[in-house]
Amino acid sequence: MWSCITDFFTYETTKSVVVKSWTIGIINRVVQLLIIIYFIWWVFINEKAYQITDTAIESSVLTKVNGFGVYNNTLMDVADYVTPTQGASVFCIITKLIKTENQVQGYCPEAERKFNCTTDSDCKSHTNGGYGVLTGRCVHINKSKGMCEIKGWCPAEVDTIKTTPMKEVENFTVFIKNSIRFPTFNYTKGNVLPTLTDEYVKKCIFDTVNNTYCPIFRVGDMVRYAQQNFTELGGVIGIKIDWMCDLDKSDDQCNPSYSFTRLDAMSQHNAVSPGYNFRFAKYFKMKNGTDYRTLVKAYAIRFDVLVNGNAGKFNMIPTLINMVAAFTSVGVGTVLCDIILLNFLKGAEQYKAKKFEEVKQFINHMVQRVFYGLMHKLTSCSCKLELHK
Ligand SMILES: *[C@@H]1O[C@H](CO)[C@@H](O)[C@H](O)[C@H]1NC(C)=O
Repeated sequence: MWSCITDFFTYETTKSVVVKSWTIGIINRVVQLLIIIYFIWWVFINEKAYQITDTAIESSVLTKVNGFGVYNNTLMDVADYVTPTQGASVFCIITKLIKTENQVQGYCPEAERKFNCTTDSDCKSHTNGGYGVLTGRCVHINKSKGMCEIKGWCPAEVDTIKTTPMKEVENFTVFIKNSIRFPTFNYTKGNVLPTLTDEYVKKCIFDTVNNTYCPIFRVGDMVRYAQQNFTELGGVIGIKIDWMCDLDKSDDQCNPSYSFTRLDAMSQHNAVSPGYNFRFAKYFKMKNGTDYRTLVKAYAIRFDVLVNGNAGKFNMIPTLINMVAAFTSVGVGTVLCDIILLNFLKGAEQYKAKKFEEVKQFINHMVQRVFYGLMHKLTSCSCKLELHK
C-alpha cells in the first residue's frame, strides 16, 4: 500500500529543447505578442471580459401623445385618434377614418361588389358574407342591379370611398417615459435624465444631432428616421430604446439611445393587405331599448416601444478565468513554431533528429513506465494485499 501512495505523490515536468535561432526566436515572440495583443485589446478592452453582464433588463414604458388634428371638418383630440388610450408601450395613431353611422341589427343588401346577383341561386355560391350572414336571397336595388342579402348590422359598411389622411398627425408629438432596472446590480435609471432641466424637457423635440436625449418625439420625424414616406404610411413603427451601460464608469455615462425602424417590413411590398387597419364601434341605445352603433374603420400608424439593454460591471471571477485563458493561449504559439522549425527552417533535419531523439526516448520511457509501473503496482499491491490477508 505504501508504495502505491509514494508513487502517487510525485511531480512530473517536461524537458525542453532550446533552439538558439534568430528566425524561429523572432517568430515565436511575434506570435506570442500577437496573442497577448489580441487578449488585451480585443478580449479585455473591447469585449470587456473582466465584467459580468446583466441582459435581463426590466423596463416600463408610458407614452403620451399630444396635438390636434382636423378630419372631415371635425377637430380631433387625443381621445379621438389614439387607441388604446392607456398610454402603453404599444399605441395607434389613427390617420384615416371611415364611419358608418346608425347601424342596427336587421336585414340589408351587401355592399361589396362580389355579392352582385341576379337570382337567389347566385347567392348560394358564397359561403360567407362580407358584413353578415348570408340569407340566400337576392334583393333587387333597382331593375338591373341585385345584391345578396345579409342578416347583421345594417346598413353594411361601404369602405371603398376615397379618404385623405389627417395631415396634422405629422406634427403630433409623443412623450415617452421609460424606466429601467438591471436586477443583478440593482441599478435604476429613467430616460428623462436628471441632467436635463424641466424647461428643456417641456420644449424640446428629439433629433439625432442636437437633442439626442430629449424624450419628446415628433411623429413625422420618427417616420422619416424609419425611412418611410408619411403620406402613404399605415403600418408599424418600432421605437427602439437601447441601454448599453458600463457601470464601472460614472452614472451619467449610462444613457439611452433611440432608433426607429419599420417593423412590418414584409407588408410594405405586399399589395394584398397594405398598411394597418382595424374596426371598432361605439354603441348607443334608442328610447325603445334597441341598440344602434357607429362603426369606425380606422387606418392607423402603430408604434411599438421596444426596450433593450445590458449592463456590465467588474467582477473577479470572469477576470481570473479570462486571464488564465490568456496565459495558456500564449503557449499555443509553440505549435506553430514547431511546425516551422521541423519543416521549413534551414537545418530542419538536425532539429528533427534532436527532437525526435528526445521524443522517441520520451515515448519509450513513457510506455515502459506506464506499462511496467502499472504491472508492478498491480502485482505488488495485490501481492501485498494477499500477504496482508
Ligand atoms: C407642422 O408644423 C409646422 C411648424 O409649426 C407648420 O409649418 C406646418 O404647416 C405643420 N404641418 C401641418 C400638416 O399642419
